[in-house]
Amino acid sequence: MKAREVVLVDGVRTAFGRAGEKGFFWQTRADDLVVKVIRELLRRNPEITPDMVEENFWGATTQEKDQGLTLGRTSAILAGLSEHCAGASVDRMCASGMTAVTTAASEIALGAFDIAIAGGVEHMGHHPMAATADPNPRFLVDRLVSEDALVMGKTAENLHDMFPEITKEMADEYAMLSQQRTAKADKDGKIVQMIVPMSVYTPEGWVVADRDQQPRPETTMEGLRDLKTPFRPMGKVTAGNSSGLNDGACGVLLMSREKAAELGVQPKMKVVAYTYAGVRPEVMGLGPIPATHKVLRLAGLSMNDIGLIELNEAFAVQCLAFMREFKLKMPDEPRLNPWGGAIAFGHPLASSGPRLMVHLMHEFAEDPKVKYGLTTMCVGLGQGGSVIWENLRNSDKKAAGKKRAARKKNK
Ligand SMILES: CC(C)(COP(=O)(O)OP(=O)(O)OC[C@H]1O[C@@H](n2cnc3c(N)ncnc32)[C@H](O)[C@@H]1OP(=O)(O)O)[C@@H](O)C(=O)NCCC(=O)NCCS
Repeated sequence: MKAREVVLVDGVRTAFGRAGEKGFFWQTRADDLVVKVIRELLRRNPEITPDMVEENFWGATTQEKDQGLTLGRTSAILAGLSEHCAGASVDRMCASGMTAVTTAASEIALGAFDIAIAGGVEHMGHHPMAATADPNPRFLVDRLVSEDALVMGKTAENLHDMFPEITKEMADEYAMLSQQRTAKADKDGKIVQMIVPMSVYTPEGWVVADRDQQPRPETTMEGLRDLKTPFRPMGKVTAGNSSGLNDGACGVLLMSREKAAELGVQPKMKVVAYTYAGVRPEVMGLGPIPATHKVLRLAGLSMNDIGLIELNEAFAVQCLAFMREFKLKMPDEPRLNPWGGAIAFGHPLASSGPRLMVHLMHEFAEDPKVKYGLTTMCVGLGQGGSVIWENLRNSDKKAAGKKRAARKKNK
């Protein structure tokens, strides 16, 4: 059987809130964030009626309470998709949403479905990282992993040990750049287009969550220099050069390229190749390196062919290690995270993979000359995920336009 081409037609996310009582989603359920995203995808794409969605695949790192009960199925029912729509949930920690997208893409490629919605959600306020996990004692007793492996900030400190040439000052500079790029993108109206505003009830009453709560555009090197290092005394990893603790959801609409042509919708980008790879859990931030080498090999491309890179910023040091490996300009490679990253926006774990894809989708639109883009991220307990996408902004345009015109005429 020949694999079919799979395209991403649209993507959208909620605003990213701060986890905890001060966050605007504190009194909002995680599954309601998912429902909002699904409904918005359908609202923005009227060619796709709810009964046409055949699969609803969602990732979450913690799969219980408001993120439990097979989120893919519960959110399909809550969002008003057809009862015939299948639903599933997946956990690959931070790459859970990325895995939902790549798995749904594989299903479409094999012909199991024509149209799917996939995404990720994490309400880190309701589900603090690993709070209810019960790791097998053998991990530590048999020294399968060190204690550091279970605390992500400690794995980032380990990376600083591994690459002493990546100094704290470099990590802070990278973090400041992320904040500056995000602030500029926000000011230029790039971010608002990706966010579906949501009315939510908070201890202060009803508010509209339509802007991310985490960014700190006022960040300076002086402000970053003396922050506490919560993961190690006299360490290098701080709240300023790490991603934060956040709540949010992000999803995308996928279909076969044939289906997009049949419906006359403009596909934005095509899956070229994807893969995941493992690394030592104690240095989990290295994950994107082997995953990216592998995905480039699978696609028959080199880093020189990649015009845009969306790298999840779990920690600045881990991004710098990636840039060092691929000989990118440190710290301000223009191809990498041109609109900033998770250090500024926040990192509601499972939603970040799709968030990278939505950024890439909009960046592709602004730069149709760029042919290939990469979305990549590190994963707790030592993995990386990488997806290569092809920009379709200019290809299938005529066909989609003709189909739309025919539809209008027939109305
Ligand atoms: C690092 C971490 C522990 C910090 O948590 P926190 O203490 O709740 O963070 P806060 O936002 O309150 O920031 C702490 C302090 O740093 C300051 N700060 C944060 N970012 C700053 C910035 N860019 N510039 C200046 N100050 C900043 C805050 O103002 C705060 O100061 P205060 O203590 O005087 O109020 C938390 O964000 C974390 O665990 N991050 C990693 C998440 C993770 O592991 N994700 C998975 C990745 S694989």
